[in-house]
Amino acid sequence: MAAHRVTLAGEDDFDGWRDAARGLAEAGVPASAVVWEVEGGEADLFGAGDATAAPAPTGASFSVPRDFVSLAKTVVCHRDPERFALLYAMLLKLRANKRALGDRADPLVDRLKAMEKEVRRDAHKMHAFVRFREVEDDDGERFVAWFEPDNHIVRREAGFFVRRFTNMRWSILTPELCIHWDGETLTQSPGATRADAPDGDPVEETWKTYYKSIFNPARVKVKAMTAEMPRKYWKNMPETAAIGELIAGAQAREAAMIEKSRSVPAAPKAPPPSNREAAWAALRDEAMGCTRCDLHCNATQTVFGEGPLDAKILFVGEQPGDAEDLAGRPFVGPAGQLFDEALAEAGIERASTYVTNAVKHFKFVLRGKRRIHQSPGAGEIQACNWWLGQERDLVRPPLTVTLGASAARAVFGKAVTIASLRGQPRLLADGSEAHVTVHPSYLLRLPDKDARRIEHALFVEDLRRVRERAEELTA
Ligand code: URA
Repeated sequence: MAAHRVTLAGEDDFDGWRDAARGLAEAGVPASAVVWEVEGGEADLFGAGDATAAPAPTGASFSVPRDFVSLAKTVVCHRDPERFALLYAMLLKLRANKRALGDRADPLVDRLKAMEKEVRRDAHKMHAFVRFREVEDDDGERFVAWFEPDNHIVRREAGFFVRRFTNMRWSILTPELCIHWDGETLTQSPGATRADAPDGDPVEETWKTYYKSIFNPARVKVKAMTAEMPRKYWKNMPETAAIGELIAGAQAREAAMIEKSRSVPAAPKAPPPSNREAAWAALRDEAMGCTRCDLHCNATQTVFGEGPLDAKILFVGEQPGDAEDLAGRPFVGPAGQLFDEALAEAGIERASTYVTNAVKHFKFVLRGKRRIHQSPGAGEIQACNWWLGQERDLVRPPLTVTLGASAARAVFGKAVTIASLRGQPRLLADGSEAHVTVHPSYLLRLPDKDARRIEHALFVEDLRRVRERAEELTA
């Protein structure tokens, strides 16, 4: 039988493949008589004169199991040039036997399922390892990332990035094609090279320094690490730049650690802190003597953040209040109580989160014996932002939640209105997300009972969304 040639519009052209496959299947064309190619792709074995165009589908009813459609949409994105032919062969099998896809002993099914898995894995890597760098263009801030997928998944995954980073302007550059989002429209352009993407910035320097400080040579499992985070992605991720050097030195450092542990007196009963815990403890001790602004003069003590260093959610409040200033812990007074209740209602365990403040000293004026809270000024927030930055660098939470305007100012580095950002996560320079909500003391101050009830429900709703997002990101 003469061969039929199908030229698809793109590497991931599912619609083109489906239409052609329908026409061919209806005409009873066997898989061996079809040449599949992609426009602008490499020439195949057949000369143009040897093949005819595929017959158009007749429009007759033609149903295939839904599972196959889903598999085909994914497999079409695989890098294997035989994917279109394999899918067509499977389609013909399904025409004869609707259950053919359930036959795992069939090598064709097995191969297609494996290809499906590879594409899904590639997509997962893209979600996890795309790192945006902030750049300025004529319209303001834009986030640009460089990524090299193994398969033709860029258009397939564009929706994920649009949903996740709806409010930002971003571009993802890849060798095959680039996609761009301006806040409203998704566009694409031809492939780019790594040189077209921006390189590191000071934020990344901090990131690298901390990655080094938390790197424990005794824990290096190169095989597991490279399986989860293949080497090809390292070059795009600032925190991995030091891995090679660190692994190279790991054995020596491990030996030195063992040697040191032999030569010092018996270890204390408590387990030795990890490098990260030690770095945090040193930071906290340092903050206790902070004189970066004048607030230390009247406050009782620095109130540093607290919580697990592997917390997925980091909450930022404004500053310690009267109770916190005395207790030395964040959110333990009336606002803290309300915060705890709202967290519980939203299904968040406070102990699993890291809680801190934009400003670490209590700012107040004395009225008689009472110390009356005063909001911190921009200068105080800025002076204290150094500590918050260090805390975030150590915890590296996927989600930072700002409670109130001062916290939002600290995290975004500029004044923002809560109403405009509430419910719309923003991407931070380190690739994590910031969620904005109100401060619990705002609820305490509302004089009207009904308004308080409504605002409380909205606050809980914000927190519930944060919990769901944290679960989604760590699933
Ligand atoms: N308000 C805050 O912003 N932080 C606290 O720790 C307590 C009250």
